[in-house]
Amino acid sequence: MTEEKRPAVLVTGGAGYIGSHAVHALLDSGFPVVVVDNLVTGFRWAVADGATFVEGDIGNAALVGRVIAEHDIGAIMHFAGSVVVPESVSDPLKYYDNNTGRSRALIGAAIDGGVKHFIFSSTAATYGMPDVERVSEETPTVPINPYGRSKLMTEWMLRDAAAAHDINYGALRYFNVAGADPEGRTGQSTAGATHLIKVAVEAATGKRDHVAIFGTDYDTPDGTGVRDYIHVWDLVRAHVLALEKLIAEPEESFTLNCGYGRGFSVLEVLDAVDRATNRTIERRMAPRREGDPGIIVSNNAKILETLPWRPERDDLDTIVGDALAWERKLQERG
Ligand code: UD1
Repeated sequence: MTEEKRPAVLVTGGAGYIGSHAVHALLDSGFPVVVVDNLVTGFRWAVADGATFVEGDIGNAALVGRVIAEHDIGAIMHFAGSVVVPESVSDPLKYYDNNTGRSRALIGAAIDGGVKHFIFSSTAATYGMPDVERVSEETPTVPINPYGRSKLMTEWMLRDAAAAHDINYGALRYFNVAGADPEGRTGQSTAGATHLIKVAVEAATGKRDHVAIFGTDYDTPDGTGVRDYIHVWDLVRAHVLALEKLIAEPEESFTLNCGYGRGFSVLEVLDAVDRATNRTIERRMAPRREGDPGIIVSNNAKILETLPWRPERDDLDTIVGDALAWERKLQERG
């Protein structure tokens, strides 16, 4: 794609974990970037220097409309949202507000402002507890928690809006995102993390004294939960390629699983962290966490077919190594 064809991209949640990586990937590919983030869970320092930063809420249609007009925004990558599944069970309306209601406002502002392309952070949680070995995009979406439902509703809004208006979209359903920028520019920084690899590297660096293993009686090879961990850098590279496809084919929209098509158990992840540090994290067996499926692994045939995307960091030790390097950097920063 030639330089002049690269539209300015509005990245919501660009100060957060995945969004801050996406900003680097977009800038590296020559896209001008404007970040809108309310800094509730994100960090101003996580926004790359080359991006324009606007502190504000994506639910504020007037503000988003102004940003779209002032910066001649041609595409939106929408990462802003809440992501903790158990919290979505205890505080569902927060999820329908942050993830569904504000997405509705954002999509409306995009259409009103003439934005042509929209990429949405969706999730494997839209599938619920599928009874298949590998989850494909054809697998029925039966989310089992408000988080998954709040994201699926946004997919529906996009599908309907794209049918009615001059906008196309890519909904990217992430499996388990982990790791950090290989160059150490950003990483997962939110306090009180609940995701396994983040929790494990915090334990490995002395920030926690143990890791609880939520369930050892699943119907999996070693009894612990199996997930398809995808390196955040591969994930954001897929976003850039997805955007390029939306631009090249303005009539097409798509929904793609983002995973590597292979799973690791909780014990395999903890073993990888132990290998990386040459130490042993204390493991404590704990009951299952409510709403956790035993296995969720992607069938990623469609993304491999649709985009010229080839994973580059699809190795558990690489994912863990990058997560650990970032964790050490974060703790030095204080
Ligand atoms: C969930 C969603 C995923 C979503 C992500 C976003 C489901 C099925 N998956 O991932 O779609 O994108 O949240 O936030 O809803 N574990 C432990 N100890 C810990 C932490 C986790 O044993 O301290 C286990 C879990 O039981 C699970 C695995 O590790 O088997 C991964 O858990 P986690 O990292 O929390 O992610 P998911 O719940 O799979």
